[in-house]
Amino acid sequence: MDHCRLIYRSTCTDKFMPNEALRELVGRSSEHNRPAGITGLLVLTGDRFLQVLEGPEDAVNDLYARIIPDKRHHDLRLICYEPIGDRYFDDWSMSLVDLYDQPKPVREFLARKYRAQEDAVQIPARLHEVYALLLDARAICLGRPWETSFEAGSGDAQPSRAESE
Ligand SMILES: Cc1cc2nc3c(=O)[nH]c(=O)nc-3n(C[C@H](O)[C@H](O)[C@H](O)COP(=O)(O)O)c2cc1C
Repeated sequence: MDHCRLIYRSTCTDKFMPNEALRELVGRSSEHNRPAGITGLLVLTGDRFLQVLEGPEDAVNDLYARIIPDKRHHDLRLICYEPIGDRYFDDWSMSLVDLYDQPKPVREFLARKYRAQEDAVQIPARLHEVYALLLDARAICLGRPWETSFEAGSGDAQPSRAESE
């Protein structure tokens, strides 16, 4: 079975979706994704979602078709859909990173790198920057942000809201 990677962005319907609701969404997503062989990451920045899904093409297509009409978000925009040999985001069947919910130095680093509006890191327009943001989010989720490039004392920079399997 061919594998693919799908990346999309969307706008959260509830501007301040409660942590509990987010936790439940990601918990259930993990449960669904695991048996389907899907892995990925969900990033929340301000009221925007950025999600990457990787797995068997049919499973990813089916899932995306379920995600599109979900009333918890709207204004979905497909950023990338491509066949893959290797997965880049195979650490979790689904995991959440809320970029706002990070220590201040981490937020400042992200804001400098990607630009921010009203304290929310903006999802970049260019694909390679989207990948960079997703990989930074993955590093946050793994609890080791910017081992090489983060200058302002990364020792304290532990994620406080990272759901994993
Ligand atoms: C931003 C966002 C990301 C989602 N990601 C996933 C996901 O990775 N896996 C999943 O099964 N459902 C995900 N969902 C939920 C689906 O849209 C849908 O509610 C769910 O798959 C329906 O499952 P059910 O038919 O078993 O109730 C997501 C929803 C939103 C709003």
